[in-house]
Amino acid sequence: MIILGLSTFADSSAAIIKDGKIICAVEEERLNRIKHFEGMPWLAIKESLSIANISMKDIDMIAIGWNPLLGWKTRIVESLKSMYQMPEALSSKISRGDGYIKGCRNIFTLKKSLRKIFTPVEVKHKIKYVTHHFAHAASAFLVSPYEHADIVVADGIGESATISFFQGDGIQVKRIGKILFPHSLGHMYASVTGFLGFRMTYDEGKVMALAAFGEDKYRELFLKVARIHKERKTFEVNTSLLDYHAARNNIYSRKWLLETGLLPRKRDEPLNQKHKDLACSLQKCTEEIVFALLHAYFGNNSKKPLCAAGGLFLNSVLNGNIVRNYTDQFFIQPASGDNGVSVGAALSIGSKLDNNFQRHHLKSASLGKSYSDDEVRNTLLTFALSPRRSQNVFAETAEYITQGKIIGWFRGGMEYGPRALGNRSIFACPTFPWIKDAVNNKVKHRESFRPFGGLVLLEEANNYFENVQESPFMFKVFHFKEQYRNIFPAITHIDYSCRIQTVDQYQNQDLYTLLEEVKKRIGYGIILNTSMNIANSPIVNTPTEAIELIRNTDLDVMVLEDYIILKEDVSNHN
Ligand SMILES: [Fe+2]
Repeated sequence: MIILGLSTFADSSAAIIKDGKIICAVEEERLNRIKHFEGMPWLAIKESLSIANISMKDIDMIAIGWNPLLGWKTRIVESLKSMYQMPEALSSKISRGDGYIKGCRNIFTLKKSLRKIFTPVEVKHKIKYVTHHFAHAASAFLVSPYEHADIVVADGIGESATISFFQGDGIQVKRIGKILFPHSLGHMYASVTGFLGFRMTYDEGKVMALAAFGEDKYRELFLKVARIHKERKTFEVNTSLLDYHAARNNIYSRKWLLETGLLPRKRDEPLNQKHKDLACSLQKCTEEIVFALLHAYFGNNSKKPLCAAGGLFLNSVLNGNIVRNYTDQFFIQPASGDNGVSVGAALSIGSKLDNNFQRHHLKSASLGKSYSDDEVRNTLLTFALSPRRSQNVFAETAEYITQGKIIGWFRGGMEYGPRALGNRSIFACPTFPWIKDAVNNKVKHRESFRPFGGLVLLEEANNYFENVQESPFMFKVFHFKEQYRNIFPAITHIDYSCRIQTVDQYQNQDLYTLLEEVKKRIGYGIILNTSMNIANSPIVNTPTEAIELIRNTDLDVMVLEDYIILKEDVSNHN
């Protein structure tokens, strides 16, 4: 059975699944170039059909990772209740409600819209709605290495649930508990992100990075914001103290302002120690609640396999702590946020309706379009660049890396999910203290407090990091062992941690070979890896965009499949 899965609210995406195997998965933002695009993924649908080499009429079923028939009552009742507590939040609630209604209308009218794009004959499929958290849960468990696992899902809000707990058994996923809106860890994190002057539901990773610079000085405050009720296996957010919808209007309660001793930070205002302490306490509070709930639902000292999905588990510091303190059998797939529910919805429907459905462990995020040698060559010619094919692209790139050059690396299929995992990446040598500033100044232009991640040979990870676990999708942070704390300054955060992607031959032979070549030269199989984009832009998707990137930035080298372009080559053609 061939199923088209769709994510149609935040982080829109499309995916095609055949008999339980992911054929392709594409995010709309990479095609329409609008980061975190919300809406129907029309371009991603077309690209997915093209990658799978099928047409719309070959699709047996369409699955959407949202059920527009659910959640209305909870949303309306809770919104009315909180209007008394925080009337200032009303306009934000109305505008969110508008967006929600529009999103649901898009789903209800999907078939009609598809018939405008394709022919009516081609669009005869049944459309199935999959409850949002079930889609998240399926997206992780059904591609995990585990036949049996506990599953946790946490995001801002699904239809009405904010956190859900499941058990996975073979191809069955059964929900055993849920926490409802307005009690949301995702919303709590987003509200403080907004207070700290960053974009809500966008820049939470920056707050996570900032947390390492602070101390847990606001612990007492967060005990009042989010209260655990172990006996009832739940937690509550005190919305009269911190309200997500009010925060969207940059409105915070008097009590919150008094207790933090701060006003909402403006985006260009300097970050002070109190901001850092607030970020630290937020991170600690979030982790404490997640651990308390894991223990409540899945038992103490669990060493059972655990799968996680939902936007909250983009928090790689939390994930590293789960490995360290909860279970070392922990799986997250590459699109843990809402971009992953296209895959999850399709897998969920497939597991119920497809007699040929089988589990497939997902080892690579390279699920998007790749480009042939001819396509790359022709693109270079379009830019009037003479195509220079490297005799040994791995050795030559390793040589540039160890010379301190900043490298764009474009090879294979586009990654699915928010991380560049060595197909649309920027690489640099992690041992040079100045390289972090160079990457920022030449290309990325990110805040200086944000650390860069690292690619590391799986077999060497244990040499450098404490309590390390396989991390093929770069969603886990680990700490350097004491003797390596000063060896890799370009990727070492203030607390000696690093978000890592482990690489083995089976996951990505090209990256493995490159890391081996780097190791021959510097003695370590480890390099800096960051996404190939400039700040606030989606990751580069096509060879044309890659060439434009080296033309418009100070990137030193661009590797496009086996072709190598130097900055001076493009400068000469400007
Ligand atoms: Fe979600």
